[in-house]
Amino acid sequence: MSFVITTPLYYVNDKPHLGSIYTTIVCDAIARYKRLLGKEVIFITGVDEHGLKIQRTANEKGVDPQTHCNNITNIFNDNWKDWDITYDKFIRTSSNLHESIVSEFYARVKKSDDIYMGVQKGWYCVGCEEFKDNPENSSTYKCPIHQKNLEWRNEENLFFRLSKYQKQIEEIINKPTFIEPKERRNEIINFVAKGLKDFSISRTNVSWGIPVPGIDNHTFYVWFDALLGYVSALSLNEKENSLKKSINAGWPPDIHLIGKDILRFHAVYWPAMLISAGFELPKTVFGHGFLTREGQKMGKSLGNVLDPKVLLSKYGRDPVRWYLIKDISLGNDGDFQNKRFVDIINNDLANTIGNLLNRTSSMSRKWFKNKVPKDVKITRNSELAYLSKVTVDKYINNFNAYKLDLASRDILNLAIKTNLYLNDKQPWILIKNESNIPLVKEIIYNVLESTRIIGLLLLPLLPELSAKIDAQLGFIYKKEVLWKNQLEWGVLNQDSELPNPIPIINKLEYE
Ligand code: MSP
Repeated sequence: MSFVITTPLYYVNDKPHLGSIYTTIVCDAIARYKRLLGKEVIFITGVDEHGLKIQRTANEKGVDPQTHCNNITNIFNDNWKDWDITYDKFIRTSSNLHESIVSEFYARVKKSDDIYMGVQKGWYCVGCEEFKDNPENSSTYKCPIHQKNLEWRNEENLFFRLSKYQKQIEEIINKPTFIEPKERRNEIINFVAKGLKDFSISRTNVSWGIPVPGIDNHTFYVWFDALLGYVSALSLNEKENSLKKSINAGWPPDIHLIGKDILRFHAVYWPAMLISAGFELPKTVFGHGFLTREGQKMGKSLGNVLDPKVLLSKYGRDPVRWYLIKDISLGNDGDFQNKRFVDIINNDLANTIGNLLNRTSSMSRKWFKNKVPKDVKITRNSELAYLSKVTVDKYINNFNAYKLDLASRDILNLAIKTNLYLNDKQPWILIKNESNIPLVKEIIYNVLESTRIIGLLLLPLLPELSAKIDAQLGFIYKKEVLWKNQLEWGVLNQDSELPNPIPIINKLEYE
């Protein structure tokens, strides 16, 4: 059974922003981690290309929607390459493959008698691509997310019988691991408790969408189409594309990681659509928080959008990954502050982890002919061996529970404690007396070994820094050997060469 993880399928109305980078980096870290555990992983990402929002953006730019989508999709692809995102499937909802999956799925839902023609009246936010429930002063009300006026709609649409699934949805959302984190579950429980209403799944005023088979002038509502992208993605690169093939290739996903604003679609509408079509439900829908910048919502009008390209060229991948993963607890809102960013990178990566590596490898090189000490008896119950074992266990538990911030802190704590161990043992004093050499060898080996474990634990989170630590310790991580086995104490070869020290992380300056 593969481990299947998805990012949202990003709208191509604009290029990627910090929010899209955030979700994708977190998914990437989880995917890398699961692969290290020896799991087959299918990491899905992609773009959501249809709907009025995209149609209008293309019009404003004076290009046809497909050309516009191709342009932005290329930017997304380049971006994920630059950030070294290890996705397995990239789905485009404007692809033929996807169109055929949507049609097949629609046929199944129709067969369950869950589709009927009705009249949709209401206030619509094009930015959200969503009807808003009876807002006060509707004609002047602005959507709090997009700061745009709502538009009145009164048209014939196809409807999906969501109300039929009230009981089932109530049961599903009450399951402890279906909606994460817990705080988000209550929002959805309250929403569902008000009573589910059928929702419209077609549009007559949107030409840029998948045509509804057999009904002229109707295209599918962008969300009905987009959610199915997760299914279509599974057929990519398969010889034959069909709904059945997709489902057999890995459905259901273990986790849909999304932002809190689109939780309702994933935790209510989507499960109902899947039940209607007779398919299994995703195991977890995880709604993460929103990122702000220096305490303010990011937006084009505020002129404070953080361009991921600029971030990347200024700082590189790993520092940004560390900040986003370690400083923000997945599920909570997070703030990107330049000063905080500089402090965290300097304290955690440069002063704590970088310095630990530097001082220990220097001591070892100085006292033991540029090598790791030899003739050291490996004892797994020594102070650091025990500490690292405890750290590995905690880290694994945290990672499995998608608490990546805590897993990162576990690594950092091991580095802090290893530094303290060194300060406490003071090998630079012990070495002055020849009779202490066996003890000094043991201390230095322990510290080098603990540092190696720190490097290995960083592998899914900060792949580049992890490789640099390995290289500085003369350690070669073996892909063919289980990562967990290499996390055992005593793997570092005694008497192996230590290369010339080079700084593994540059200290940052305040802007
Ligand atoms: N196309 C839909 C998703 C369809 S999934 C089948 C969509 N796209 S989006 O591009 O508007 O948003 C993509 C993701 O970015 C969402 O999960 C949204 O929550 C997230 N974010 C948008 N702004 C954000 C922040 N400022 N911070 C963190 N994430 C944010 O919705």
